[in-house]
Parts: sequence; C-alpha cells; structure tokens
Amino acid sequence: MLATMVKVSAQQPRNVEKTGTKTPAKYGFGRTATLKEISLLDIDVRPDGKGLPAGQGDALKGKALYLSKCAVCHGNNNTDFSTAKLPAPMLVSDTSAKSRPKAIGNYWPYATTIFDYLRRAMPYNAPGTLTNDEVYSITAYLLHANKIIKQSDILNAETLPKVVMPAKKLFIMDDRKGGPEVK
Ligand code: HEC
Repeated sequence: MLATMVKVSAQQPRNVEKTGTKTPAKYGFGRTATLKEISLLDIDVRPDGKGLPAGQGDALKGKALYLSKCAVCHGNNNTDFSTAKLPAPMLVSDTSAKSRPKAIGNYWPYATTIFDYLRRAMPYNAPGTLTNDEVYSITAYLLHANKIIKQSDILNAETLPKVVMPAKKLFIMDDRKGGPEVK
C-alpha cells in the first residue's frame, strides 16, 4: 500500500510540486449541460435492452419506412445482390453461420444493437431523424426479413431484448481479468 502511494505522488505534474498550484473548481467559461441536452446524446441501448425508450413498432410499418428511407442505399427484394453495386452493406441474408458476407442475420449477436445503431446512425444522410416508433418498426422489418421474428410480432422495450439472434451462440464472453494473456 505504501509503495503505491509513493508512486502516485511521484507522478504529479511538476508545477504542482514546485508552486503548490491547485486545480481551480471552475475555469470561468462554459455552463452546465441541461437535462434536455444530455438526453439527446444519452441514447445508448445495451445488449440486455437497458436504455430502450417507450414506443413500439411492427414489420409491416417498418417495410414501408424501409422502402422509402433505406432501400435506395441498401437495396430491396428486387435487388440482385450478386451483381448490384450498392453504396451500403447488405441487411438481409441467410441466417446460417456459413453465410457470407457477415450481416445482421448471421453475425449480429444482439437484436437490441439494431435499434441502437439505426437510431444513432441511419439513414446515413439524415441520422437522428427517425422517431422511436419508426426505429422499432424498421428493426422489426429487418428481423422479419432475416426470418428471425414473425411479421405480426410487436417490438417494444420488453419484447425486443427477448429476441434471440442466430449468431449469439457464435460469440464467447471474454472473461479474462488482465495480465500477460491480454494483448
Ligand atoms: C445514403 C445511403 C444510406 C441510406 C439512405 C441508409 N443507409 Fe444504412 N448504411 C449506409 C452505409 C454507407 C453504411 C455503412 C456504414 C459504415 O460501415 O460505417 C450503412 C450501414 C447500415 C447498417 C449496418 C450494417 C452492417 O451489418 O454493418 C444498418 C443496420 C443500416 N445501415 C440500416 C439502415 C436503415 C434501416 C436505413 C433506413 C432508415 C438506412 N440504413 C439508410 C448507407 C445508407
């Protein structure tokens, strides 16, 4: 314990040692962020569903939204993915582990990540413009198109975390605690 304390004090910046200057409580600029400002950025959704907002959606509504807001870059049912040169990755694929390329159906371990990603990053040209209901609906459409949920399934903060992705079993938890084996 003593050795640790000595080491910490030895790492203090030099000016503190020499002049005794303390870090001021305030620097005299900026202001405290409002709760509204924080809530606009505090939108992460965790794998277990923590952070999912109120709202709901289904695949039929999601399909209409997908066709008007996403298909232009990601393709639709009529797209021949073997020849099409799309600007964006394929979102609907075989759900078997042997399927290539890595996509939602065969590679994403958590359904909640689809919600998180769409809400923060898509559509690519207008991120942040989808309502929570729209994000639930498009998530439902993508899960249904990948044959993971039924068309009639309603997604919300309770049901979405319960969707088990086919790729979940392909991942293992990294339970290493540190040390030389962690590079
Ligand atoms: C202007 C073109 C464009 C539009 C419109 C667009 N996307 Fe994307 N999307 C992209 C690009 C480009 C990427 C790849 C981004 C990257 O890897 O950083 C991407 C990535 C994604 C991914 C991640 C795919 C993966 O497996 O890595 C998802 C999911 C997605 N988009 C969903 C949507 C949805 C849903 C919509 C409609 C609401 C949408 N996108 C609209 C261009 C677009």
